[in-house]
Amino acid sequence: MNREDHRPPPIEERRNGLLLSSDPARVRPEELHAFLQRSYWARGIPIEVVRRSLAHSLPFGVYDGSRLVAFARVISDRATFAWVGDVFVDEAYRGRGLSKWLMEAIRGHAELQGLRRWLLATHDAHTLYAQFGFKPLERPQNFMEIARRDFYHTNDTTAETPPSV
Ligand SMILES: CC(C)(COP(=O)(O)OP(=O)(O)OC[C@H]1O[C@@H](n2cnc3c(N)ncnc32)[C@H](O)[C@@H]1OP(=O)(O)O)[C@@H](O)C(=O)NCCC(=O)NCCS
Repeated sequence: MNREDHRPPPIEERRNGLLLSSDPARVRPEELHAFLQRSYWARGIPIEVVRRSLAHSLPFGVYDGSRLVAFARVISDRATFAWVGDVFVDEAYRGRGLSKWLMEAIRGHAELQGLRRWLLATHDAHTLYAQFGFKPLERPQNFMEIARRDFYHTNDTTAETPPSV
């Protein structure tokens, strides 16, 4: 039996006429791509990379009708660790609690319970994530990274040499 067969069904919740869903089938990669093109962390990302990222993570979307208006995804082994990324709310829908709704759904998700560590990176939304238990790294000296800033924007997605920034 495929491991996917043991997964619980996607969550679907409604609030104020909007639908929050973790069903990957609802996400249109073109819409997410348009969001990410406007982001400070993934501008220039190719749509094929967006498709691949969706195929290997848990996506959480908020939909107005079928239109994606807010998004976050979780990269996780569903046992010990999770990374929260690509959190984005359409400009016209900001300030209505949608990112908090996404974070509530993520933190409450059945497949993401009992993990030993959650991580994320943010430029300026620390107080959003603090409301869901995130704290600054207690021991930043213990963490290392390979970070390719502006990776896609340089159009050099095959480069193996680290960037100079
Ligand atoms: C940041 C962002 C996701 C917030 O979404 P939102 O749906 O408008 O936010 P909400 O209405 O759910 O409220 C967010 C809460 O976090 C707080 N917050 C902290 N940093 C924030 C920020 N940079 N922008 C907006 N709210 C922020 C707000 O004050 C609010 O808390 P409160 O209701 O207790 O006062 C949205 O502005 C966005 O998409 N920005 C561009 C992309 C981005 O920065 N993504 C985050 C990358 S880590």
